[in-house]
Amino acid sequence: MKKIQVGLCGLGTVGTGVVKVLEDHQEQIKHKVGCEIEISKILVSNLEKTRDVVIKQDWLTIDPADLVDNPEIDVIIEVMGGIEDTNQLLERAIRNKKHIVTANKDLMAVHGQKLLRLAKENKCDILYDASVAGGIPILRSLSDGLASDHIQKIMGIVNGTTNYIMTKMTDEGLPFDEVLEEAQALGFAEADPTSDVDGLDAARKMTLLANIAFRMELNLEDVHMVGIRGITQEDINFAESLDYTIKLIGIASMQDGKAEVTVEPTLLPKDHPLALVKNEYNAVYVYGEAVGETMFYGPGAGSLPTATAVVSDLMEVVKNIRLGISGNTYIDPQFDHHLKSDSEKFSRQFIRLEVEDQAGAFQEITNVFSDEKVSFAKILQLPGDREKIAEIVMVTHKISREQLLKSLANLKGLDVVKRLISHYRVDGEE
Ligand code: HSE
Repeated sequence: MKKIQVGLCGLGTVGTGVVKVLEDHQEQIKHKVGCEIEISKILVSNLEKTRDVVIKQDWLTIDPADLVDNPEIDVIIEVMGGIEDTNQLLERAIRNKKHIVTANKDLMAVHGQKLLRLAKENKCDILYDASVAGGIPILRSLSDGLASDHIQKIMGIVNGTTNYIMTKMTDEGLPFDEVLEEAQALGFAEADPTSDVDGLDAARKMTLLANIAFRMELNLEDVHMVGIRGITQEDINFAESLDYTIKLIGIASMQDGKAEVTVEPTLLPKDHPLALVKNEYNAVYVYGEAVGETMFYGPGAGSLPTATAVVSDLMEVVKNIRLGISGNTYIDPQFDHHLKSDSEKFSRQFIRLEVEDQAGAFQEITNVFSDEKVSFAKILQLPGDREKIAEIVMVTHKISREQLLKSLANLKGLDVVKRLISHYRVDGEE
């Protein structure tokens, strides 16, 4: 069989890793797919830049047409990032019958379903395993390894930057800003770290996971998203004293044909497998009706881990070309788009209040909760940092989001409640 020609869009951290993996593992790759794979063009923005990897100078181009309109090229690997321009480029490549491998979660979370359908119409593959949790083969595990099961819940630490920040704030008591700077210096925070710390990066990845797991077309707008900026050292300490760890967790669940996807700071029991995932590592916990609990752990970013996922996708594309079965990787959604309403979203909640330390205050507060039929698993009352002020920390039993929002609104109306300090979801202790 003829050599497969690849056009590589982007020669940054991941692109460099792709060139290295293809070079260093070429014998094994050839043996597994049954033919040679060769890079023939690389799209870069600067032809002169010194590269970290050995490349032939005539591979480099600044003209995308040299890749996407090039009849010699079979597969486009897109590792340059960007959303709208990149989408147009990939659409053009697909119309020119190129298969696509991408690590671009930003693009796939916004235009993924449209691109997947276009690829199918054109009998092309589009694979994107590297876009979620870098080196962990989680999309493939959901679509292949667990294909026979009904997935009911996914909980993921899918953003390394925020996990790094939460780990350092929890274990070393370091302030948020200092740790964010470290994460940027280490290279795993996004160029604009707001998408990491505000939860957007994790929300994009959870959208991709939920689409595959639940066979429903879910969009980024369907994800309830809260980042980690508001978490204080006091929140962390109170959580610790109640035997919880705070992490930014993506949670996707499906019951009775209705889905819920959230990304939010979540308290997990200290011995939950996800609570033990430290620093920039990623992990995805999957609960399937038949399989029960499974957990996938590994590096969520970085040159060679992400490149491994990209090249493995490339190998699948090549195998499909050889077998003549390209264009079948995308399966139409099985279920209509239905989201849970607020009265159907259940979780436990951790709530911190600053209250007046006076007779009857506690009763007024508990009345608000009992009016909404909210009951408590744990309550702590501590003296506040000012005279006549106390702090109450509560963990509820499972309540609906509707109950939570009504209770919080009613608490704000009480004179004895000075401040609603914080509230977080509690999960992982069914
Ligand atoms: N900024 C991302 C993270 C990189 O921190 O996980 C990988 O997508």
